[in-house]
Amino acid sequence: MTEEALRAVDVRKTYHTRGAPAVEALRGVSLSLRKGERISLLGRNGAGKTTFLRIASTLLVPTSGTVEVFGHDVVGHPEQVRPLVAVVPQEGKPFFHLTPREQIYAYLRARGIDRESARARVDEALAQMGIQEVADRLSITLSGGQKQRAMVATIIATEAPLLFLDEPTIGMDPFARRGVWDSLRRLTNKGCTVLLTTHYLDEAEALSQRLYVVEGGRVLVEGTADAIKQQVGGTLKVSIPNGAALREELSTFGQIVSDGGTVYVITGPERINEIMSLAMKDRLAATVGPVTLEEAFLQIVGRSIDQDEG
Ligand SMILES: Nc1ncnc2c1ncn2[C@@H]1O[C@H](COP(=O)(O)OP(=O)(O)OP(=O)(O)O)[C@@H](O)[C@H]1O
Ligand SMILES: [Mg+2]
Repeated sequence: MTEEALRAVDVRKTYHTRGAPAVEALRGVSLSLRKGERISLLGRNGAGKTTFLRIASTLLVPTSGTVEVFGHDVVGHPEQVRPLVAVVPQEGKPFFHLTPREQIYAYLRARGIDRESARARVDEALAQMGIQEVADRLSITLSGGQKQRAMVATIIATEAPLLFLDEPTIGMDPFARRGVWDSLRRLTNKGCTVLLTTHYLDEAEALSQRLYVVEGGRVLVEGTADAIKQQVGGTLKVSIPNGAALREELSTFGQIVSDGGTVYVITGPERINEIMSLAMKDRLAATVGPVTLEEAFLQIVGRSIDQDEG
């Protein structure tokens, strides 16, 4: 039997702002996380990801629907939920007048962790995020990426049973991002559960066991990265730089994605030869590679936008 860390059922949220039209940020989101899972929420800007995380972490009340964290209702019993969760908020900043070491320590103590364990966890989190060298400088003097590392260090140090991270690696260099991935993997191996949002789809793929794609306040698709890629009709992608003129002809072979002057055809292995000869006939170079999660995302979300507009 697996324990459920988070269960959301038909969550809706409408923001009402005086003098402005109401915004339906969530229009019926249901999802669930088993204990120990690492799950990513993907979606365009404004899709509703932050709204969902804020509701699930008791910072915002939904208009309707229910969210339970380890069986505790976030609206009915927020005081039972709060000790179980920790949040890296989107665009959160560490306290300017504290050093990263002071901030992490103070946060752990406020959560009821004893002095000795807090000190040990501070050192561990600083090391995991690679910020030992700046650990005793006021946060206001840190670089953007160092501040973000300090925020993530504060939250991973809690080892809370359910961690919410809203774009945790924004502004981080590739080394620091991998430091976050390693830390999150280590935490879930210890039994923590992780729900994160990211616009880096390589990160989502490297890190999460399942993904939810949110669009317009609804879950569009859910599944493993491979399952989501299968939904776009092929596992291979032919890239044809300067292939715009062939776009229409190529569209008979599979889904088309354009990026600058390059046309990508998402297709199956059986169509590759035909596409290559077509490109060669026009003296265009063509290369074959696997479909990335980003391409699948662009396709799936793009299709949904077309449907809404059509
Ligand atoms: N406090 C608010 N008042 C009114 N509307 C809001 C408020 N917060 C968010 N919204 C709107 O709700 C929708 C969802 O916003 P949300 O911040 O959840 O998106 P997101 O998926 O996190 O986007 P991003 O990738 O840009 O962070 C957007 O249309 C946004 O403009
Ligand atoms: Mg957001």
